[in-house]
Amino acid sequence: MAGKIPEETIQQIKQSLDITEVIGDYVQLKKQGRNFFGLCPFHGENSPSFSVSPDKQIYHCFGCGAGGNVFSFLTEIENISFQEAVGKLAERAGIAADVSIPAESRSQPVSKEHDQMMKAHELLAKFYHHLLLNTAEGQEALDYLEKRGFSKNDLETFQIGWSLPNWDFTAKFLQKRGFTLEWMEKAGLIIRKEEDGNYFDRFRGRIMFPLHDEKGKVVAFSGRALHEEKPKYLNSPETPVFNKSRLLYNFHRARPAIRKQHGAVLFEGFADVIAAAGAGVEAGIATMGTSLTDAHIQQIKRTADQVIICYDGDSAGIQAAFRASGLLEGSGCDVKVALIPDKMDPDDYIKKHGAEKFRNNIIGTAMTLMAFKMEYYKQGKNLQDEAQKLHYIEEVVAEVAKLKKAVERDYYLRQIADQFSLSLDALKQQEKQLFFKERKKQPPNERTFQPASAPQMQKRLYPAFQTAERRLIAHMLKDADTAYKVKELLSGETFNLDEHQAIFTYLLGFYEGGNMPDSSAFISFLPNANLCRLVSDIEMMMVSEVVNDEEVHDYIKEIFKYRKILEIKAKKQRQVTAEKAKDYQTAAQIAMEIVKLKKELR
Ligand code: CTP
Ligand code: MN
Repeated sequence: MAGKIPEETIQQIKQSLDITEVIGDYVQLKKQGRNFFGLCPFHGENSPSFSVSPDKQIYHCFGCGAGGNVFSFLTEIENISFQEAVGKLAERAGIAADVSIPAESRSQPVSKEHDQMMKAHELLAKFYHHLLLNTAEGQEALDYLEKRGFSKNDLETFQIGWSLPNWDFTAKFLQKRGFTLEWMEKAGLIIRKEEDGNYFDRFRGRIMFPLHDEKGKVVAFSGRALHEEKPKYLNSPETPVFNKSRLLYNFHRARPAIRKQHGAVLFEGFADVIAAAGAGVEAGIATMGTSLTDAHIQQIKRTADQVIICYDGDSAGIQAAFRASGLLEGSGCDVKVALIPDKMDPDDYIKKHGAEKFRNNIIGTAMTLMAFKMEYYKQGKNLQDEAQKLHYIEEVVAEVAKLKKAVERDYYLRQIADQFSLSLDALKQQEKQLFFKERKKQPPNERTFQPASAPQMQKRLYPAFQTAERRLIAHMLKDADTAYKVKELLSGETFNLDEHQAIFTYLLGFYEGGNMPDSSAFISFLPNANLCRLVSDIEMMMVSEVVNDEEVHDYIKEIFKYRKILEIKAKKQRQVTAEKAKDYQTAAQIAMEIVKLKKELR
């Protein structure tokens, strides 16, 4: 264990940071009343049930129950230890905290194998980069990249490199530095020959693009052929550290821009991402030659809910954009599509027309999804042909019917009516039929995208005693005197729910230790995440600022009442057993006891 971090340091860090800002790096938050809401980063969801309270400096998800303070947030989201979280937040707050992070205190122990894989990638990325920029062997690749329009800055920002055309340069390089070759093969960097068991390099004579995970660590490579060799791009295989259906190229770098602009720009190829960044579009990301997956979408949605799709302008690109737009829209994203003319890809376009035109005429004028669909359905049709034209109108009107806003539906119908000189009324009628058919297909709660509001969240129903216990805890978290009063009134009895009793006990200890009411600080005081979650959940409940004696008494009464209810239940069970055994005397005795208890309840 590392030395215990002084309580003052923790307090100091907490006071100099705002939880909404820290969480804002990972979740797009919108203010609603006193709290902020967003999509929970800990579980997939389409409507925001994750809330952050700047007043209390805590967060809570009404969907999955995650919750805690700024330290627990970082430990959970980054999968790091408490010590590491303190270290990171201290750094952010500009506070000197002497936090040493021993490997064994990490929440998930990193295996040696994993560690070597990460180190090898990092080292090789540096080495390949050096080969490209500073050696005669890298000159031809460097010339090619410069001719393609990559600036020195691009090369450095994206750590682009060059792998030597030798058979086993990388294998030897790794071996010399003490890496276990078997693990390096598992990491996809080298390949074992069947015949003699020797290892040779996967990437030979290729322009090397390191692929970073969302934390900015190199976990794989994509190597581009310098000439016409096949394949054009060679990627690392799936490895313990690289999952290509999850990784989004450039996500770690683009994250701040995505958050700031509330949206990401999705490209087909990472060469486009690099060109776009050079042209001032910093929020660019790309999948690694796979189509968009649910994991990709969830990752994007943690940071933004708008996506501009900017795929290649050829028909394959448009087809892929149509598919991706459907998936993104389906998951609640606001989608736009930026079409590149003349079948170019974004990289080609930037080279030909320059950065400014790309920003203004392509990204700046991205179409709404409906406008894109209207273009999409034109593909492969001859609209001069009457039958094909009618087919087109049907397809487009069906899409209009799916739009949620009446003004939008009206707008596009007018556009179609104008374009084909049709009667607006006729179109509207057709659209209405489709509209109602569409509604019927959808479950009611999916019809509109609505952020769950605080009152909506409180609809969860608990039994009376549980609500009473929760409310008491909420008040005790605000005021130490209330806690002492409750202790007295319970006179040795306990809360009915074990977790509530545990929180109560810790809370008393917290106050007795001289602490002031502070739910965020109290959360750090709790021994396990379960209790932290419950406290953050209770804290998000709205209760009045002050509580009077009468209210406290009522809650305590509910707690005792529940005891009696349980007692009655147990007695009824015994009564039934006695009757079955034809022991009528005992049964009658129990019946009387039940009557007495029931009287007490009133
Ligand atoms: N891709 C791949 N394997 C290939 C070809 C393509 O994995 N053999 C992936 C790469 O991730 C690439 C993306 O698909 O970034 C888009 O491919 P493409 O449009 O062919 O590449 P460009 O971005 O146009 O690359 P370049 O300009 O270098 O030709
Ligand atoms: Mn290209």
